[in-house]
Amino acid sequence: MTNKAFATALTLAAVAFMAFSPGVWAQEKKEEKKEAKLGVEALKMSDAELFPDINKPAQKWAEPAGYKGSKENGAKIFSDMQQGNCAACHCADGVKGCGNIGPSLIKYKKELGEQRTRDWLFQKIADARIDNPDTLMPPTLSTNTLKIEEAVDVVEFLESLK
Ligand code: HEC
Repeated sequence: MTNKAFATALTLAAVAFMAFSPGVWAQEKKEEKKEAKLGVEALKMSDAELFPDINKPAQKWAEPAGYKGSKENGAKIFSDMQQGNCAACHCADGVKGCGNIGPSLIKYKKELGEQRTRDWLFQKIADARIDNPDTLMPPTLSTNTLKIEEAVDVVEFLESLK
């Protein structure tokens, strides 16, 4: 390619880019506006509308029979903001960037778990309001935040911390 041909190609490419980008920008702006609107809608909603199940009374839960649980998946759920989000309030072994609103669960089985039955722990994770009506800990099963098997996985994770 000669220098001139190259320069022409470059110019054409630049023109094509400029013709194309307003469309992209417009689309991005539209998405931004949509997101902002969703945020405003969420602000206008009450807690009960945002979390339809949160006003249901505290519920008793028991582990499903025959499911063993996976501590690896439990560890994932513990730190996953879309799932348990436990790490927002609790530290546990191997968890980075954890909060301290709730008690530390580092070496849980050794430090606290010895005094807790498995049923108690499962209920605590499923719906802590049974144990403590004033708890800050959000219920997971009564709000459908976790599946029942996932709550077992989290129990397995905590029980493995020795
Ligand atoms: C908004 C903060 C918050 C979140 C999120 C949270 N917790 Fe808690 N948790 C607490 C607080 C506060 C306590 C202590 C008061 C109480 O018992 O309710 C607690 C207590 C506990 C206990 C009892 C410890 C003991 O044996 O005394 C366990 C176990 C526990 N949380 C596990 C979890 C798990 C697992 C998750 C995620 C599914 C989670 N928590 C999510 C705040 C939270």
